[in-house]
Amino acid sequence: MDKRTRRRRMLARQRQLRRRRRIRMGISIAVAGLVLIFVIKGVILPLVKNIGGGEGKETVQAQVSQNADEALRQSLRGQADLGKVAGMTPGWHEDETGRWYRNTDGTFYISGFKEINGITYCFDDNGYIQTGWITKGAKEYYFNSDGSYNPDKRRPMLALTFDDGPGKYTDTLLDCLEEYNAHATFFMLGECVSVYPDPVKRMVEIGCEIGSHSWDHPNLTSLSLDQVAKQFADTDQALLNACGQKATVARAPYGAASQNIFATVGKPFFMWSMDTLDWSLLNASAVYDTVLNGDLTDGSIILMHDIHETSVQAALDIIPALIEQGYRLVTLSELAAAKGVDLQNAEYTDFWDSSLAAGLVAGYRGADFDDGLSGIFSEETEEFGDGEDAAESETSQAA
Ligand code: NI
Repeated sequence: MDKRTRRRRMLARQRQLRRRRRIRMGISIAVAGLVLIFVIKGVILPLVKNIGGGEGKETVQAQVSQNADEALRQSLRGQADLGKVAGMTPGWHEDETGRWYRNTDGTFYISGFKEINGITYCFDDNGYIQTGWITKGAKEYYFNSDGSYNPDKRRPMLALTFDDGPGKYTDTLLDCLEEYNAHATFFMLGECVSVYPDPVKRMVEIGCEIGSHSWDHPNLTSLSLDQVAKQFADTDQALLNACGQKATVARAPYGAASQNIFATVGKPFFMWSMDTLDWSLLNASAVYDTVLNGDLTDGSIILMHDIHETSVQAALDIIPALIEQGYRLVTLSELAAAKGVDLQNAEYTDFWDSSLAAGLVAGYRGADFDDGLSGIFSEETEEFGDGEDAAESETSQAA
């Protein structure tokens, strides 16, 4: 290799090194620039804006004196809340999680209902408005896609009731109820409860109602009142042993009872508005048809028996079908509460609006109870006051 060639190669190598150095330096400058932009946008700008706004500081002071613990804990929530307070004007705001409302004092609403400009909204624990069905206790409310409460939208309610168990098929029925988040009421015989205690415990766990159907299914009207009392006291004891609670509701065998029996037992007694005759059909698809083609007026009580395999098989199809059709499957106590009825030691057949209006339902508080959110609003207002306090602390920690 002659001298000239070697020199040419050396020059080429030096050019290559210089080019590489320039590329590395360019990348470093670009990275530094990006970091600077992030720091300004995420930290310095929010800081400057909050120092500038007097309200933010007032909220901090108020909060520190009120509830220092809460403010400290919530300060760990970070970036999401920083965005909320950074230079926002009062009123509605929207981010990738949803819509929320900023008050003029910098607070925002959480955990409850609030009327804003004549429209009621429901705020979740993070201050975002909720849509769709919201359940509060026994009642259910519908919020449109813009978050406004829709008082006209109500799901009709049905109470499925199962008598004479528990039995060997009860657990399968409970699987289905649990899967569809549906509730039912079980009118059980004390003598069966002592044989099958486990499903009884499970009923309580999944929100079903514990009912008594006497100890061994006698015609109560042929017994003395003392004997009647013993039938239900013994069953309550068996229920207590199985699930830790007594029956809240009762059903007389054959539906045969009297005012004296209601008073002696001391529980609300339930008849039914639809008798599926499942015990005589003993055919799952026939039972299914009976229910789906029957009178499913809002507030109906449906009688079935979970001791028959065919009845449980039918129920496995009936439950999803009714939910698919828009019904809400509830316990009798839930149904009564939702209809404004304080259950008495009396007899109930249905909770239809027509029966309520006709004065046929004992303990009905009257039509006024249920105008939109008013029934629950009074209870919730206080809770919501707490929510406002919490909202202040949320703002303060972010500031
Ligand atoms: Ni029976």
